[in-house]
Amino acid sequence: MRMILLGPPGVGKGTQARFLMEKLGALQLSTGDLLRAAVRDGTELGKRAKGYMDQGELVPDDVILGLIRETLVELGDKPVIFDGFPRTVPQAEGLDRLLAELGGGVDRVLELTVDDEEVVRRLSARRCCPKDGAVYNLLYNPPRADSVCDRCGGPLIQRDDDKPEVIRHRLAVYHQQTEPLSDYYRGAGLLVRVNGDGTVDEVRRRVEDALA
Ligand code: AP5
Ligand code: MG
Repeated sequence: MRMILLGPPGVGKGTQARFLMEKLGALQLSTGDLLRAAVRDGTELGKRAKGYMDQGELVPDDVILGLIRETLVELGDKPVIFDGFPRTVPQAEGLDRLLAELGGGVDRVLELTVDDEEVVRRLSARRCCPKDGAVYNLLYNPPRADSVCDRCGGPLIQRDDDKPEVIRHRLAVYHQQTEPLSDYYRGAGLLVRVNGDGTVDEVRRRVEDALA
């Protein structure tokens, strides 16, 4: 089982991926999380990616496809949920080629939708725990104590790319480079669209209904 979570920045891909992992017994493969870990560890990949990420630009397709190849070869045929990948038509084509080589293909593409203003609201209020990956929202899902992770007690941070001007640019990049993937996967008969408005639980129930 290989499923893709598609949708604009801040729509809730990471949030819903957590539920889906449990429900489907799948691993979450977030290129954003992998890249942020590489930046933190100061690897060659991280050094190459950081400038793009801080500006809200996409990291070049060849870098991303190299990373995905490496990860998929390691994972073998374990069920995977792709979160934030693919993000361009060349990445989607590269994934198709890679999966043809490894055996199998993409089984489902779930697209979450919300409008741009809601994206800005959600991302401006997001706080993350770099230690255990927990994600909070000061408006919708605040931590019990200000700027401290409920689970591990570590300090919460704001992502460097969650500044208002960078959020706007990520949205523009999304509309230009990633949105065409809806048509790509609709054409392949794989696309299911789910309204991402409403509470986390409302969206989770819609996702479950759409996949049932
Ligand atoms: P990435 O990390 O993938 O960021 P993104 O796609 O912009 O998405 P986000 O992680 O910001 O949002 P999300 O949809 O996961 O929302 P979340 O669940 O956290 O990529 C970052 C950068 O890395 C890119 O800009 C690029 O530079 C690079 N990159 C990554 N992949 C790449 C690729 N394939 N190719 C090239 N470059 C790549 O939720 C957001 C907030 O809202 C949270 O605070 C959450 O608590 C809250 N929330 C969630 N659901 C709800 C709800 N229903 N109601 C209210 N609040 C909610
Ligand atoms: Mg995410």
